[in-house]
Amino acid sequence: MSVSRRQFLALGGLGVIGAAGALALPLSTVGASSASRLSDRDMPRPYQTAFSQAPLLQPYQTGIDPADGAPVNSYLVTAMAASAAILPRLRTPILSYNGTFPGPTIKVERGTKAVLRMRNQLPAKHPIDDHLLSISTHLHGSASLPQFDGYASDVSQQGFRKDYKYPNFQAARTLWYHDHAVHNTALNVYAGLAAQYHIHDPQERQLLPQGAFDVAMTVSDAIFAANGTLAYDDREQSGLWGDVMLVNGKPWPVMKVQRRIYRFRILNACISRSLRPMLSTGDAVTIVATDGGLMPKAQSVVSWRHASAERYEVLIDFRKYAVGKRIELRNLSNENNRDFDNTNKIMAFDVVGAPVDTSDPTWNTIPTTLAASEVMSLTQAQSTKTRRWRVKRDDVTNVWRIGETAAAGTWAGVVASGFRNVIANPELGATEIWEFENSSGGWFHPIHTHLVDFQILSRNGRAPFPYEVGPKDVVYVGEGETVRLLMKFGPHRGKYMVHCHNLPHEDHDMMVQFSVGLADGAVDANDPINAAKPTWDDGL
Ligand code: C2O
Ligand code: CU
Repeated sequence: MSVSRRQFLALGGLGVIGAAGALALPLSTVGASSASRLSDRDMPRPYQTAFSQAPLLQPYQTGIDPADGAPVNSYLVTAMAASAAILPRLRTPILSYNGTFPGPTIKVERGTKAVLRMRNQLPAKHPIDDHLLSISTHLHGSASLPQFDGYASDVSQQGFRKDYKYPNFQAARTLWYHDHAVHNTALNVYAGLAAQYHIHDPQERQLLPQGAFDVAMTVSDAIFAANGTLAYDDREQSGLWGDVMLVNGKPWPVMKVQRRIYRFRILNACISRSLRPMLSTGDAVTIVATDGGLMPKAQSVVSWRHASAERYEVLIDFRKYAVGKRIELRNLSNENNRDFDNTNKIMAFDVVGAPVDTSDPTWNTIPTTLAASEVMSLTQAQSTKTRRWRVKRDDVTNVWRIGETAAAGTWAGVVASGFRNVIANPELGATEIWEFENSSGGWFHPIHTHLVDFQILSRNGRAPFPYEVGPKDVVYVGEGETVRLLMKFGPHRGKYMVHCHNLPHEDHDMMVQFSVGLADGAVDANDPINAAKPTWDDGL
């Protein structure tokens, strides 16, 4: 793997649109107010675009699983090059799921299984750095079997497809599916391979707004070259900080809202940037769900720290605002982000006078007690083991890692071991405490565990923030912080990844694996690469 690969390249054309050849960006943008090289008239400005959401994906087939009688929805997603209307005057070539940026949202009922057929119809190579566009798709937040979990090295090459089976037995939550291709996740997700996925259940339906008032909000940032293509600069693999904030693929959009309570499923899909959202009025919002679904208790907060891949479901109460008022969702930012002129804004809400349907009880209800969950009911006394890792950048090789050695602490090390090296091997059903210490100096790392939700026990020995007292699968490990997590390993045996969700960190090479309930040398029935191989896509 290259260690100091500088990428000042721009998406130069996806075959359909765009000129060939890379555009060089200046080396340093320190102190600059923008990173994009768009001309003044092509540069988007805040609050000029209408808010919209990704399309909903309907199943192409529904049926019953003969094994257990559960309903099964089948979805078809084609990974393909497309172009998106992100900027006011220019088209932007993207890599996409089904042609949109972000990809289509999938909604399923808890207990309905899903089979997602992912077809790789991408161009052979990524336009930014020419890497081969082999893909792996991860449903982030799902306890999927290892062979359907988007294991980084379980890739589908161009022209192949894979049927991913998702159990959807977990409580209602906001998930997202995104590319996870080995060492190329950052570039692939940045170019557009990301989308939301929601599991609904009766408890959540009763407590929280639904339908038009249950709003997906996928936030990302981007840098644009002068011709409207996406530009990429990961600053020596430390992170990409765009100057254009996008919500569902639109720059700083404006949403018309009624005078009622709305639910927003806020996904930070920036590949590196962390957010600190806050309303321009200074009014509090109510956090009701974290990554793994409903929290035990709703939390009223004025702002919160929100890293890549974290999901917070947030109620915003527009009842008290006058018709015609504009409320902005601002971004106060956090340490070690790079901010530009308008990265302190995310989107805005314009209050309109449309009549509110008061027969829907969620219009004016802010619940306080929400839901118990297995993970939030775990106690430290149940833990049978405490494991600790330091996360850092290697002083010599400059590669990010988890733990003390590159052999176990990087994905290159995992690959070199024939996928045998693991950082931990809990028993099936074991409860453990995992501690991550950020000893990398001036960086923050959103650490993500596959398969399991966890409870955050402490940060630097103190209680976690009130808004993160809920089921989590990503934890913000800030500068100089040590977090302790409590989790129970199951329900599947097998190998699963753990990594930093700052995607340039993940790719270089802050990703490792653990195994659940596998004895040394035992045959792994759910081998993540061999148990369900991609097949040639005959188009049927
Ligand atoms: Cu959102 Cu391993 O990923
Ligand atoms: Cu990191």
